[in-house]
Amino acid sequence: MEDREGCIVKYARIIGWGKYLPEKILSNQDLERIVDTSDEWIYSRTGIRERRIATPDETVTTMSVAASRAALAIAGLDAAELDLIIVATSSPDYLLPAAASMIQHELGAEHAAAFDLRAGCAGFVYGLAVGTQFIATGMYRHVLVIGAEIISKFLDWQDRDTCVLFGDGAGAVVLQASEEPTGLLACCLGSSGADYDALFVPGGGSKYPFCQEVLDQGWHHIKMNGRRLYRFAVTTLPQVALEVLAMAGLAPRDITLLIPHQANARIVQSVCERLEIPEEKVFINIHKYGNTSAASIPIALCEAVEEGRLNPGDHVLLLGFGAGLTWAAAVVRWGVPELSISRLFSWNFIRECVPVSEATVTACRATALLTVLTHCLWQLFPGGREQR
Ligand code: ACO
Repeated sequence: MEDREGCIVKYARIIGWGKYLPEKILSNQDLERIVDTSDEWIYSRTGIRERRIATPDETVTTMSVAASRAALAIAGLDAAELDLIIVATSSPDYLLPAAASMIQHELGAEHAAAFDLRAGCAGFVYGLAVGTQFIATGMYRHVLVIGAEIISKFLDWQDRDTCVLFGDGAGAVVLQASEEPTGLLACCLGSSGADYDALFVPGGGSKYPFCQEVLDQGWHHIKMNGRRLYRFAVTTLPQVALEVLAMAGLAPRDITLLIPHQANARIVQSVCERLEIPEEKVFINIHKYGNTSAASIPIALCEAVEEGRLNPGDHVLLLGFGAGLTWAAAVVRWGVPELSISRLFSWNFIRECVPVSEATVTACRATALLTVLTHCLWQLFPGGREQR
């Protein structure tokens, strides 16, 4: 299969990654003052110590734009070069239009198609699979995949079963067509719709549009059956993990890092025990951010790279599950971005290698502009030079 430029394409290399977390921290101690709970209960049952909560100014769009800009900077790519933007979210700014379209506008990605993808907390891995397909068929060269959520807006802050679990945030990756066997090597996606009511927001959709009854019944809040979800996760995830590893021709011991959906540390522990994956090969940040739903895997992936836990050639296992109920497992082979001439000279790349402030970059740009202007003036008015 050839892409638009006549290259043989099969893989979608991850060439950029970024994240955004709201600054506002809500600790377990803060929650103790809101509902009948304790730091001890929350931490021992979930592994969560604190989470980030968006301010009224922060939306799925603003958080996604910030995470995407960071990812594009690492990739050394201009937003205008993007062909497609996929936003995995269950908490978009509006029912209509898709958050993806507003993000496309804010980024200046004028050539990109854009759509939202809803697959609960498994949404980012679904998005990675969809984006990879567009690249593998040769239709697109650069795809931005985002996972972003503001679940805090859908929580009943009197319901201790749910309000202690979730947090807000966004993560993004840039995919680029590549002939090297990197990026997503295999994936296993699925759904168990019979369990749709184990985690759902009953009101506000087309079945129960907003009305007084929806408000009175609290149907605009997340309803969750934690035990059902727990059982689903600990039985399904080990099975699909083995399935996707077999598809990639790998065994659990070949995995460098497992990046699971950060829903509950006990679920992760149970899955690792069944797969015999040691603790040191698992990335966990749930203590800092809680369950950020579709954003949890891209945020964790970004932090894993920042902490130097991934090297070229490493195999990463991504495991997601969530509302639907859905699941998504993927094997990703890590690869570094190719160094093109344009990337080497891009401001983003220079800033990535040499951490300079925005002011320094502006000063350099102004100096360069002044030099060019002076040169032009001297060319236009050579007399001034001669008189002196
Ligand atoms: N603080 C104190 N006590 C609490 C709290 C709380 N925040 N919440 C519940 N309890 C109480 C319950 O009322 C119950 O009391 P009771 O025995 O007197 O009735 C007791 O603690 C035990 O409740 P359980 O529900 O049995 O607690 P469990 O050990 O199952 O833990 C939890 C609950 C953490 C929700 C767990 O079931 C879980 O993590 N499930 C999966 C949830 C999940 O993954 N959700 C999201 C997945 S999809 C997505 O990410 C969007």
